[in-house]
Amino acid sequence: MAIEIVPTGAALGAEIRGLDLRLDLDVESIDIVKRAWRDHLVLSIRDQDISDADLVRFSEYFGRLRLAPLGEARMRGRSRSPDGYPEVAIISNVIRDGLPIGSLGNAEAIWHTDMSYIEEPIMGAILYALEVPRSGGDTGFANMYLAYETLPDELRSTLEGRVCLHDGSLNSAGFPRQGYEEVTDVTRTPGARHPLFRTHPETGRPALFLGRRRNAYIPGLVVEESEALLDAVWAHATQSAFTWRHRWRVGDLLMWDNRAVLHRRDAFDDGERRVMHRTQIEGDRPYYERA
Ligand code: OGA
Ligand code: MN
Repeated sequence: MAIEIVPTGAALGAEIRGLDLRLDLDVESIDIVKRAWRDHLVLSIRDQDISDADLVRFSEYFGRLRLAPLGEARMRGRSRSPDGYPEVAIISNVIRDGLPIGSLGNAEAIWHTDMSYIEEPIMGAILYALEVPRSGGDTGFANMYLAYETLPDELRSTLEGRVCLHDGSLNSAGFPRQGYEEVTDVTRTPGARHPLFRTHPETGRPALFLGRRRNAYIPGLVVEESEALLDAVWAHATQSAFTWRHRWRVGDLLMWDNRAVLHRRDAFDDGERRVMHRTQIEGDRPYYERA
């Protein structure tokens, strides 16, 4: 079966055709997917019918998997993974026996980078759709190489060499995360510090590296100045020219390079079910080498 790569025509993203992820991929095919991922940042592979074991096997072609993150406080003792697959995280609005079976509910998930509140954020995530709502719940992506390259000079020189504090207390849907205290003062936001510009370890290209707007803070600045700068840089980074959105069908698999894209998700009707299984691939500590 010939593998075909079909770019979206937008600022990022491509569809890969001709793969059946129930089967092992040969090294050549894996190489094609890796190169396409590096070039297009987000890949979609449609019309799949895979198990968690298939999802894990495919994901492991790209690196070591990280166990599913702790999840939301409201999940209380409920496992955040399907039985036997602690490396698979469930993203869902479905409630069973009074508790969510997964994270993020049905609300909008605001623009974010996955797990940037830890020291070594994941390099990528792979999301597979088992059930999707009839409308809503689209996932959007934004190209942070482009955001970096088009930054106005003044903003670039102000941010050059600075770090940002990445909040771990709230997830992208605004739910508190297990194990973090509520933030009342952004200068004390709990979470990792990362450079605002990041050199991509595979391509060597610089990208803008943002986590979540909420509770973010640029150490060394007074809060008002940090807020104004962050508002400006976020408005720049998420302009529609840098984005592409995916309308889901059951059997779609999407993978994003978490080092050079932001993503978000639309809200959807809570009367509908959305069930996604996700793996997360270990990454490195972000660094920046001045070009
Ligand atoms: C995620 C995420 C978006 C979606 O899994 O990290 O942001 O569309 N999901 O479910
Ligand atoms: Mn996410």
